[in-house]
Amino acid sequence: MARSVVVVFGATGLQGGGVANALLHDSGFKVRAVTRNASSAKAKALQERGAELVEGNYDDPGSLERALQGAHGMFVVTNYMEHQEFDRDVKQGKAVADAAKAAGVQHVVFSSLENVQKTMGFPCLFYDSKAEIEEYMKSIGLPVTIVKYPAYYENYINFGPRKLEDGTYELGYALEGAAMHAVSVADMGFAVRTIFKNRAEWLDRTVGFSGDKLTIQQHADILSKHLAPKVFKPTKMTTEEYSKLGFPGAEQIANMFKFYRLGNPDRSVELTRQLYPGTRSLDQWVADNKEALLNVLEKK
Ligand SMILES: NC(=O)c1ccc[n+]([C@@H]2O[C@H](COP(=O)([O-])OP(=O)(O)OC[C@H]3O[C@@H](n4cnc5c(N)ncnc54)[C@H](OP(=O)(O)O)[C@@H]3O)[C@@H](O)[C@H]2O)c1
Repeated sequence: MARSVVVVFGATGLQGGGVANALLHDSGFKVRAVTRNASSAKAKALQERGAELVEGNYDDPGSLERALQGAHGMFVVTNYMEHQEFDRDVKQGKAVADAAKAAGVQHVVFSSLENVQKTMGFPCLFYDSKAEIEEYMKSIGLPVTIVKYPAYYENYINFGPRKLEDGTYELGYALEGAAMHAVSVADMGFAVRTIFKNRAEWLDRTVGFSGDKLTIQQHADILSKHLAPKVFKPTKMTTEEYSKLGFPGAEQIANMFKFYRLGNPDRSVELTRQLYPGTRSLDQWVADNKEALLNVLEKK
């Protein structure tokens, strides 16, 4: 049987990387990984594992059309955080949508988020831009499944907790005691693969991913248990105080915390495990990643 070509945007990153990895494990798919730089180490590693590499840039519509030629499926996530420009993020997402429509892509999996401005009355620009792209994709009749990622467990490796003067580590989610959903972004590649394998079942549906819904005190307890004698604590900072930290994006991230606390984002551990039974709890994930976590703490 001919293999389905799935174009994976962001394949050198966390979400797309998880998706590319899962599809590369399945002989039913041919992965075409899109990157702005085909000679980067991450791109080369994908090629070595059997992915086709194409250079493409969300800011260059012609490159998107070329990348999507002959594709059956497409996974796409835009990266607001890189440029932090709302209009540019929406323009990039619409350009990919238009290119997918022109190429006749049969199944788009789009990594979206909620329209916080519309539902809560305050903005969260990196959520709102994705919601606008989602709306556009639906308005032009793209065959789409929407997935929504919560916070990644991997943030504890990629950003790491802050080391305090007393030698303990502070988890920076300023949630004032509220619980939040989180998941391993790597695990979710396999959930997306299930969606691609079962197009008819998942078309026109939205899935909010989650591996666990826990308070940050529970995150701290899990990390302290596995990484003892290191001790972890949730930040005492309020959402409001976080919004005034002054680094680029701080206000928007604080508004995301406010949305986590007050907006009850629709994520489902049950549905996520149905898509990928191997979806790990935070406890399992920390146990599996002790060495990587300890390496990060050594550098603090
Ligand atoms: N961290 C979290 O907990 C979390 C949770 C939920 C959602 N998110 C959302 O996830 C998104 C980021 O995804 P990620 O975590 O997978 O990011 P990432 O690991 O930083 O990777 C970004 C990817 O996007 C690609 N890319 C960026 N700009 C591009 C452009 N102009 N044209 C083509 N490709 C481009 C990069 O490819 P090349 O560099 O190879 O070109 C790279 O593969 C953000 O919008 C964020 O809001 C994050």
